[in-house]
Amino acid sequence: MKRPFSSKRRSALAASLALGAVAALSSASAHAQRRNPLERPPLGNSPEESRVLAVLDEIHRTQRYLSVPEADGRLLRMLVESTGAKQVVEIGTSTGYSGLWLLIALMKTGGRLTTYEIDRGRHEAARANYDRAGMLKLATLVLGDAHAEVAKLKEAVDLVFIDADREGYLDYLRKLSPLVRAGGLIVAHNMASPPPDPRYVDAVTANSAYDTIFLNMHDAGVGVTLKKR
Ligand SMILES: C[S@@+](CC[C@H](N)C(=O)[O-])C[C@H]1O[C@@H](n2cnc3c(N)ncnc32)[C@H](O)[C@@H]1O
Repeated sequence: MKRPFSSKRRSALAASLALGAVAALSSASAHAQRRNPLERPPLGNSPEESRVLAVLDEIHRTQRYLSVPEADGRLLRMLVESTGAKQVVEIGTSTGYSGLWLLIALMKTGGRLTTYEIDRGRHEAARANYDRAGMLKLATLVLGDAHAEVAKLKEAVDLVFIDADREGYLDYLRKLSPLVRAGGLIVAHNMASPPPDPRYVDAVTANSAYDTIFLNMHDAGVGVTLKKR
C-alpha cells in the first residue's frame, strides 16, 4: 500500500516542482529569444570578449545599481569602438556595468577608461567586477565627487559618458567639453527618464558648436552630442 506523503515530502516536492517550472520558463524565454534574431545577445569573438560578456551578464542579473539598460550599454560600446576612441571618461561608475561595455570597446581600440564614483561601496564593487572581467588594467577608478575630481584632468578626451547626479550634467559639460577633442562625443544618459535637466538639453541643442541626437528614448534615453570640428 502506498503511504501518503508526509508534509516534509510534500513541501520538498512543491519546491522541486517550482524550481522545475522556473527552469522551464527561463529556458522557454531563452529559446524564444534565440528564435527572434532581433533580440539575440552579443556574441564574443575571442576568449577575452566572452569573459567580459559573461561578467556583464552576471552583473545584469544580480547586482545592477541604476545601471544602463543592455541596449544602451551596447550603444556605448559601438560609439567607442566605431569612432576608435582611446581616452574615455565616465561620470557615475556605479558597480561597473556601463564601464565594462566601454572597456570591451577600449580593449579593441587600445584605449583607457577613467571613471568617477562618489560611493565607496559601488566604487569597490566596480573594481572587483573589472578585475573579474580581466579589464582592471585598462581602467582608472576615481573615488570622490566628480565635480571636483574632473578638474584635475588635463589630457584630451575622445568620448565622455555622463550618468550621475541629474542637476550636475551642465557642470560636467562645462568642465569636460573643453577637453573633448574636435570630432569627439559627449554621451548623456537618462535623457527621457527620469526627465533630464532642461539646462543641459538646451546647452547641447542650442549651440552651433554641437550637434545632438537622442536615441533609445522609449527607455531611459541617450543623448549623443558631437563636438563639431
Ligand atoms: C545611474 S548610476 C551610474 C550607473 C552606471 N553608469 C552603469 O550604467 O552601470 C549613478 C552613479 O553616479 C554616482 N554619483 C552621483 N553623484 C556623483 C558625483 N558628484 N560624483 C561621482 N559620482 C556620483 C552615484 O553614486 C551612482 O552610483
